[in-house]
Amino acid sequence: MIEKRVLLIVSGGIAAYKSLELTRLLKKQGIAVRAVMTESATEFVTPLSLGVITEDHVYGAMFDLKEEREIGHIQLSRQADLIVIAPATANILAKAAAGIADDLATTILLATDKPVLAVPAMNVRMWQHAATRRNLAQLRADGMAIMDPDEGEMACGEYGPGRLPEPHAIVERIIAMLGHFASAQTLASQPDFADIDHRPLYGKRVLVTAGPTHEAIDPVRYIANRSSGRQGFAIAAGAAEMGAEVTLIAGPVHLVTPPGVIRIDIETALEMQAEIDKALPADVAIMVAAVADWRAADVPEQKIKKAGKAPAPLALTENPDILATLAKHKQRPKLLIGFAAETEKIVEHAAAKLAKKGCDWIVANDVSGDVMGGENNAFHIVTKDGVESWPDSPKDVIARKLMEKVADEIGES
Ligand code: CTP
Repeated sequence: MIEKRVLLIVSGGIAAYKSLELTRLLKKQGIAVRAVMTESATEFVTPLSLGVITEDHVYGAMFDLKEEREIGHIQLSRQADLIVIAPATANILAKAAAGIADDLATTILLATDKPVLAVPAMNVRMWQHAATRRNLAQLRADGMAIMDPDEGEMACGEYGPGRLPEPHAIVERIIAMLGHFASAQTLASQPDFADIDHRPLYGKRVLVTAGPTHEAIDPVRYIANRSSGRQGFAIAAGAAEMGAEVTLIAGPVHLVTPPGVIRIDIETALEMQAEIDKALPADVAIMVAAVADWRAADVPEQKIKKAGKAPAPLALTENPDILATLAKHKQRPKLLIGFAAETEKIVEHAAAKLAKKGCDWIVANDVSGDVMGGENNAFHIVTKDGVESWPDSPKDVIARKLMEKVADEIGES
């Protein structure tokens, strides 16, 4: 496997010391790391410590003429597969959003044509400040991937979102972005099986979407649905248990990542679509997510205020149909499975959806009861060859049964 290379930009926050652990974990995965530090980062961690772990020169805050002659900022980014800013302070995000290039790190960000992942860490008020929200929205629109910070107690004593995610979670995200599915590593964290025969999906790449999407109406309101994400997470867990390399693209849900699964969190349908494109190729894609059909046509920067009368009607625009788009994709997975939530004429509607969306199977469930958020699901698997109906069972039982059927279909090939 060709070695992947990360250019790690460390900016100056209290979490800067975690760049050492992050680097160590990346190197353990066989990913080469070259580091650039901003001047304020060197107040929190020394270039010497980072250099010992990267086993390389750490590139500095200011333009060093000698460095610039030997290896310029363009070359630094050219030699990387991915640029990661961790921790990313509010300051570096603001500069990047504005296109300011006043030190080596920000010059690299402005000059690069490589994918960039920012891992913000800052005080909760800074994270929630309108300026930061605006900058993050701009950076996302410019194509930067941004991880959500963890929630918890902060170094400053306040509580809320703003903590740097755990280094292993950052590594998972980096691996997913690099498309670097180191099988041995993925399997290492999966439940043990006696032998490979019990891993019928060994070596297969499975993509699962789960949960709802949230579509902003304004900075505080959004359109959502009642999907809990549990069925999709159970399917991802089942696929990992069977030895598959699983990428789970999850909408906003409160669920623990199943062991051995690479999880990518998104909020909107457009973000889900973009992450699927990055996660391809895959042998199987199982689209369990309840993607919002529509999003607001315009999202104002400020909260819409009430004015003592009914607001203007909310103008909506249709989201792309991710499943139908994937069915026509040049990297279409061999087996493409869609889900359908129906309240009547379940099989009939599912069969129509199968044809309309161009997928191989539709898993139809009856949502006329309390399925969304509930424990049990009854399924009808509709394929071009007919219908198979499964009784009402817990979601994890259904997940395993579905993955066994998937393994029968593609396991041997
Ligand atoms: N899907 C998608 N992108 C969308 C909408 C849905 O990929 N924008 C996928 C879902 O993940 C699921 C299937 O398509 O696999 C569900 O199709 P959809 O037409 O949304 O089903 P229902 O919501 O059940 O459709 P309808 O409202 O027409 O009953």
